[in-house]
Amino acid sequence: QIADKGNHRHFMAKEIHEQPEVISHTLANLIDMAAGRVNFPDLGVDLSKLSRVTISACGTAYYAGLIGKYWIERYARVPVEIDVASEFRYREPPLPEGGLAVFVSQSGETADTLATLRYCKSQGQRIASIVNVRTSTIARESDAVLPTLAGPEVGVASTKAFTCQLAVLAALAIALGRARGAISAELEQELVGALMEVPRHISSMLSDESVYEALAHDLSRARDVLYLGRGVNFPLALEGALKLKEISYIHAEGYAAGELKHGPIALIDESVPVIVVAPKDELFDKTVSNVQEVAARGGQIVFVSNGESDEVGCDVVAHITIPDVHPFTNPLIYAVPAQLIAYHTAVFMGTDVDQPRNLAKSVTVE
Ligand code: G6P
Repeated sequence: QIADKGNHRHFMAKEIHEQPEVISHTLANLIDMAAGRVNFPDLGVDLSKLSRVTISACGTAYYAGLIGKYWIERYARVPVEIDVASEFRYREPPLPEGGLAVFVSQSGETADTLATLRYCKSQGQRIASIVNVRTSTIARESDAVLPTLAGPEVGVASTKAFTCQLAVLAALAIALGRARGAISAELEQELVGALMEVPRHISSMLSDESVYEALAHDLSRARDVLYLGRGVNFPLALEGALKLKEISYIHAEGYAAGELKHGPIALIDESVPVIVVAPKDELFDKTVSNVQEVAARGGQIVFVSNGESDEVGCDVVAHITIPDVHPFTNPLIYAVPAQLIAYHTAVFMGTDVDQPRNLAKSVTVE
């Protein structure tokens, strides 16, 4: 594939718009569409006997892994240990006998992730990697490869690779859930059906970006931005903040909404936009009550939700309306506004979106 920008101004925009297609490809590889079941390669371990799953990665891939932890623990009822590779490799934690270690990496060359993989191998773990570059070192040193079929990703800030990593992790959670008898055949079909709907929903969200262009004016004036989420959408808040930092250079912090009162609420005043990832799931009411605490202190709320604006119970500076989807797939869907908020803010500010200062696409040295 030749990397060109097509009709887009930046590779990042092109890659955001490729997501419906590349997520479809990635899912088609792991799902029996007709049967509505996952169709997973043999990972060389008895999934029903695992006492724990270990995940490690860096940067955006780490946040994908963190979302994977929520999914796997919820749907497969197996504990997941996860850490950034640069900590994991030196912490050298004890690992369960015959365990499964999963590595997530777009490039497959990140030095810390590779070192962690080698440590896990030395501890007798089976190694499965979720990689975008099939010929990479991490892919070659793995026992099993679960590919993301995102195609070449040129923009330094990862977008389509991230959502494809999520697609693989979601399928892995279902495969583990089935192997362990934690989900019924009906639930498996429901979850697989929900995943198959993701590309269509993302396409519809990409048909009009004007709300993000308008929001960019406000965000560009901010010195600090807070990103809040709960549950499986908490890692997404971390990823949204990372994206904003990476390409717009605005200081942004992702926080678990319930932790707000334990510190960050001290930062809130009229100059701080607070982006709230608030799908109408079982935690919506809790998130809304956190939002009201922020609004009462003057914080400027950007409400990213499939709920109605009047359900927040306070004024919002922007409501980014998200389609109603199955709650299982929320992280895949809400990843898109996180990308577009960062992208349009960076474009408005005139930064080098595809090649942000000081960052490398792949960090192959420690
Ligand atoms: C760099 C990139 C990030 C990426 C991280 C991990 O920091 O700028 O976009 O998430 O490395 O890279 P990997 O290739 O292992 O996913």
